Amino acid sequence: MSFPKNFTWGATTSAYQIEGALEEGGKGPSIWDAFVRKPGNIWEGHTGRLACDHYHRYKEDVALMRVIGLKAYRFSVSWPRVMPAGIGPVNTTGLDFYDNLVDELLEHGIEPWVTLFHWDYPYDLFLRGGWLNPESPKWFARYVKAVVQRLSDRVRHWITLNEPQCFIGLGYLSGEHAPGFKLDLVEGLLAGHNALVAHGRAVETIREHARQSPLVGWSPAGSVFYPATESPEDVAAAREATFGVFPGSVWNNRWWGDPVVHGRYPQEGIEAYGPAVPHFSQADLKIIHQPLDFYGCNIFSSEPVKADVEGRPVAAGFSPGYADTHYLWKQTPEALYWGPRFLAEHYKLPIVITENGMSSCDTVSVDGRVHDPNRIDFMNRYLLALQRALSEGIDVRGYFVWSLMDNFEWAEGYKHRFGLIHTDFETQKRTLKDSAYWYHDIIASNGESLEPVSLAEPPLHVVVKTTMHYVRSHVSEPFRIKDLAAHLRCHPDFLSRQFKKSTGTDLGEYIRNARVDHARELLKKPNMLIDVAAEKSGFSDRIHFSKVFRRLTGETPGEFQRRFRVSFDGNRQPEALLRTKHPRSAR
Ligand code: FCB
Repeated sequence: MSFPKNFTWGATTSAYQIEGALEEGGKGPSIWDAFVRKPGNIWEGHTGRLACDHYHRYKEDVALMRVIGLKAYRFSVSWPRVMPAGIGPVNTTGLDFYDNLVDELLEHGIEPWVTLFHWDYPYDLFLRGGWLNPESPKWFARYVKAVVQRLSDRVRHWITLNEPQCFIGLGYLSGEHAPGFKLDLVEGLLAGHNALVAHGRAVETIREHARQSPLVGWSPAGSVFYPATESPEDVAAAREATFGVFPGSVWNNRWWGDPVVHGRYPQEGIEAYGPAVPHFSQADLKIIHQPLDFYGCNIFSSEPVKADVEGRPVAAGFSPGYADTHYLWKQTPEALYWGPRFLAEHYKLPIVITENGMSSCDTVSVDGRVHDPNRIDFMNRYLLALQRALSEGIDVRGYFVWSLMDNFEWAEGYKHRFGLIHTDFETQKRTLKDSAYWYHDIIASNGESLEPVSLAEPPLHVVVKTTMHYVRSHVSEPFRIKDLAAHLRCHPDFLSRQFKKSTGTDLGEYIRNARVDHARELLKKPNMLIDVAAEKSGFSDRIHFSKVFRRLTGETPGEFQRRFRVSFDGNRQPEALLRTKHPRSAR
């Protein structure tokens, strides 16, 4: 199966992380400009002062996007570049930059997707309380209006906020990101509430001022949990964890997504946060709750959970040595199947993966190329998982790699390389990594050239041994091959193929044989009823049981019972007799 015809293949960046030119073209300061100055805030004291110098090199960068064959490019507009003081006069030079970028993209056949807020909040407004100030949504809306009026003749796709969980959780609560606040949860949630109202006002503003019908979404951080096995219990546990709100933590989907899409804060959140829940009016909720065209989500990694005996989610944990990235974010391709599936079920909106990717230790090799096979493998696996979601009817509209190019990774400075393009931060030389060429082929084939590996494929002998053990220990339960495959964490077709290949036996037939064996033992017991033997051997009804029994042994359960009694009474060796009648091919 390929991807849908109009699937959007893209890559993402954000203004502070790539632009540089922090004091050029009339740009005002942002909270990140101030934050990076304080020693200890950023790894090795790095700053975004030059970053990728994209402000001056955007033409070269767009040309590289063209080489990769991107259909879309998601970038963010810097609020203080457009409005240096956050409110008040618009800086036309700042807007010109984005205007030119949009033209350049369109000339190269690349669709611009504009994020309106990716964390570089204007410093002057921070001095007035930032997101804690209830005026902040109005300030944001005025800035949004200026951008929309200027760009919407050519831009159709708009994203309001990037990851409120991060800019509140890291910026207002833990202090790891700008503005570096370590506030109480009550204040963090208040700032978050104002940011959500700002989202609502931004959507209203876009719809009111756009010069062509806009497509509007947002990009929260997707906090996904995936089931350790695909048993219904583990799936339910993963769903519950994915939609849980945990006391004292803003890392969840529903506190943010529910008001935006459903128009109310979730009851679970109100209970979990208790007195920290900010006061809000119904009027605010009405503003927050705007119709959206897609639900963007940034998904990098996730965690497996399983159901405990009461069905509650518990962490299943990773095995020692489980695949990591340079950031030590685990590689969990399952996230790109379960994330879209759960989020689409809950929010009933088309899904766009607005960020996904990995950091690794990429370097220009002696041959002048950047070999990043790990990234290729990572993307291949994640995209296969996304393809599975699509094949099951989940409405996923696009996939954007984080990131187009190596860039300033916030508090981690330049430690992590997430790009398809390698950036030499000293010389500003760009080199397309192997993954960029690979992504080119994926885009050109609309996903058909993905390598079809099975996710978490266990080695063959383990598959067969575990299958046999599972069948024996579950022989009295009416399980299906699907459940067995879920237990083994592989696809049912893969399992059946491998079993046949290694034992020469059809897996279904093997299971039926095991059931019939079990039934024969039961039927030897005095007074055993056929119905009971059928049920205790995992058959759903007696007729089916009798049919299978007859086909495999050459006689009906009743005949067997009678003959066994006779044989027993007659002191013969029933087992020796029966064995000759069993056409088993694998034991
Ligand atoms: C996301 C951010 C993005 C980048 C990636 C690695 O959370 O949106 O700016 O930092 O993580």
